[in-house]
Amino acid sequence: MKALGIDIGGSAVKGAPVDIKTGKLLAERHRIETPEAITPARMGRTIAAIAAHFKWKGPIGVGFPGVVMGTTIHTSANLHPAFVGCDGAKLIAKATRCPVALLNDGAAAAIAEMRFGAGRGFSGKTLLLTLGTGIGTALAYQGVVVPMEFGHLPHKGKSWEKFAAASAREREDLTWKQWARRLDRYIAEMEALFWPELIIVGGGVSAKHEKFFPLLNPRARLVPAEFLNQAGIAGAAIWGAEHA
Ligand code: BGC
Repeated sequence: MKALGIDIGGSAVKGAPVDIKTGKLLAERHRIETPEAITPARMGRTIAAIAAHFKWKGPIGVGFPGVVMGTTIHTSANLHPAFVGCDGAKLIAKATRCPVALLNDGAAAAIAEMRFGAGRGFSGKTLLLTLGTGIGTALAYQGVVVPMEFGHLPHKGKSWEKFAAASAREREDLTWKQWARRLDRYIAEMEALFWPELIIVGGGVSAKHEKFFPLLNPRARLVPAEFLNQAGIAGAAIWGAEHA
């Protein structure tokens, strides 16, 4: 059984066919840069181009960086505001002529990590963080993944993700040490509220975990995502296979 997994990010859309029995990508992922905030219609065409690249006919799962309820997108903090209120699954199904299921991008990464990655076999309370343009968050417990919006916990009148996402390090040209100090405070706040036993960190920056993990002081066991930046694609495909 396979499905096409799509990960919509702040600066690019990525996709690949995935073996949903193992979570493994069956081909090298195809990536299309989306430098400016593109409209929902252009997003539909961009995803159709990825599907066409793989000559894809079958279920598609799509991870979106915002609140998703059913097939409807409710927030779009880092993408075009026109996504709010949009039926994302319908839009992408129309553009690709394939059955589509949509979910939050952080939840997608969490599904892949809990089934096949750093959290496999672990049923205790787990917090998953994806550090990219924003901060994607999900909780997992006893095999159930729940999408969260903890990147928007308020800090100095803004969302914490504006200070501690990987994008903040690049935007503000912070050293690893400066950025890690912020991330450490964010994790401390998460731990005070949620007391996870395990924290899994994904997103592109997780490939460089040895640069900042030693600078963090979590109470929980902290590990990098095993799928690194591909967890979003793998989890979206699993979701697509089961819900499209
Ligand atoms: C969004 C979340 C998303 C995260 C990572 C946040 O701004 O509100 O839904 O998971 O960014 O993309």
